[in-house]
Amino acid sequence: MLVTSDHPLIQHKLTILRDVNTDFPKFRQLVREIAMLLAHEATEDLALEATTVETPMGTAPGHVLKEHIGLVPILRAGLGMVDAILEMLPSAQVWHIGLYRDEETLRPVTYYNKLPEIPTVQVCLILDPMLATGGSAIATADILKEWGAKRIKYVGLLGAPEGIEALQAKHPDIDIHLATVDERLNDIGFIVPGLGDAGDRQFGTA
Ligand code: PRP
Repeated sequence: MLVTSDHPLIQHKLTILRDVNTDFPKFRQLVREIAMLLAHEATEDLALEATTVETPMGTAPGHVLKEHIGLVPILRAGLGMVDAILEMLPSAQVWHIGLYRDEETLRPVTYYNKLPEIPTVQVCLILDPMLATGGSAIATADILKEWGAKRIKYVGLLGAPEGIEALQAKHPDIDIHLATVDERLNDIGFIVPGLGDAGDRQFGTA
């Protein structure tokens, strides 16, 4: 399932995020804000368990999250989405996956993975602002499935049709939540019109 957002706040913030004149601190702030809004949508169907709670006035019915949630940012660019989502899901575990794209082949190369042998979460949210060729998302989903994650969702800002198609073909069970879908990939694997390099623009390394 592909879900894109027509929420006015997301569309407004995305427009400023794309602007070549938006500086690094503002860019980081916008990534945080959009991530929070997208996470709200991506967590709408989390399972709940019924419980009761003692209020100062008596007993009230309530609900708590049933499953353990893992946030899986793809380094580096996914890092900027973590804190925002942790504010809403403070009990989530964070499992970093380090991948970079080989500039020649555009294939992802894994350089960091410290997942323990046994899965510790049932639901994983893969966090990465950009779904370009889809190689990084597919590699991360492969790793998480091999680990034993039962349910995986992808949360990103921008997607290219090529990357969405590739991820859906390889992992049809993974819901994809994006702010929007852009026109295409260019010949060096960048999303057009896109926003440039999300890692460089967040961390001032452009
Ligand atoms: C970018 C981006 C994604 C990946 C998307 O990372 O943040 O992780 O490329 O491309 P794909 O869908 O074609 O795999 P990059 O390799 O620039 O690393 P960085 O985040 O460390 O800058």
